[in-house]
Amino acid sequence: MYTIALVSRKGGTGKSTLAIGLAVAAMEAGHRVRILEADPLATISNWRTRRSGIEPAVESVRDGYELLQRVRVLAQHGITLTIVDTAGGWSEPWSGAVAAADLCLIPARPSLADIEAAAPALAAIRAERKPFAFILNQTPARRQRPDAAAASLGATASSLDMMGVLALPYIAQRNDQQDAIAAGLAVTEFAREGKSADEIRALWRWVWARLTSIAPGEAEPLTDAAEDADPTVPANLPAVPRPLDGAVDLYAAT
Ligand SMILES: Nc1ncnc2c1ncn2[C@@H]1O[C@H](COP(=O)(O)OP(=O)(O)OP(=O)(O)O)[C@@H](O)[C@H]1O
Ligand SMILES: [Mg+2]
Repeated sequence: MYTIALVSRKGGTGKSTLAIGLAVAAMEAGHRVRILEADPLATISNWRTRRSGIEPAVESVRDGYELLQRVRVLAQHGITLTIVDTAGGWSEPWSGAVAAADLCLIPARPSLADIEAAAPALAAIRAERKPFAFILNQTPARRQRPDAAAASLGATASSLDMMGVLALPYIAQRNDQQDAIAAGLAVTEFAREGKSADEIRALWRWVWARLTSIAPGEAEPLTDAAEDADPTVPANLPAVPRPLDGAVDLYAAT
């Protein structure tokens, strides 16, 4: 099982939106996905109550210990991808989310202030020696300025020593991202043929390519508490999908 964590200390960068989008895109690619919600604001649990489909299941975790325990249990019960959504600002489960993650994803809006605000999260992630990538979210959709956004990020990246790690593609700001969440759907379900859906599917391919270049975290021995069977996880599960060809891996190029 792979675990990814959406992290940024700044609020409203798109952690929950992208966690939902990536979770469903991964499901559509054949994964068994569980979302762990480490945010008392409960954005994803609220989304779940508006949703009629049973997948992906969402579990709330109160602290880092519970989060790590759940990750261990899920790994033993056939979940192939766990996505952890964290709170903006400081929260108790934050370090647990980073510790559990095989890959930390840091959404940032394409402004200098937002990118600089990622520095504390980046420092904590690098202290844990965790692989990471930035996701540029809410980029202008009409006047696409990816080059300007990239230039802005690149200049700041060098001052923050971000290693040039940037997931692709950028995720544009569009109403269907918000409308999907309001409808209890992911954007790939809400507007399957839309540009936002294409972006999220492509982002998932990038994330999957990056993940498969990382050895999955070696599971620590199960504790007694963690050995309790999880009846919510079905026993017969499909194999993890093969890595997709053609995904760009900027991390490898740095
Ligand atoms: N690509 C996008 N296009 C349009 N709206 C977006 C996009 N990404 C996020 N939003 C909107 O921005 C707002 C913040 O997004 P979201 O709740 O996902 O951020 P967050 O980082 O989880 O926030 P918090 O730190 O409060 O948990 C929401 O209203 C969401 O609908
Ligand atoms: Mg959130």
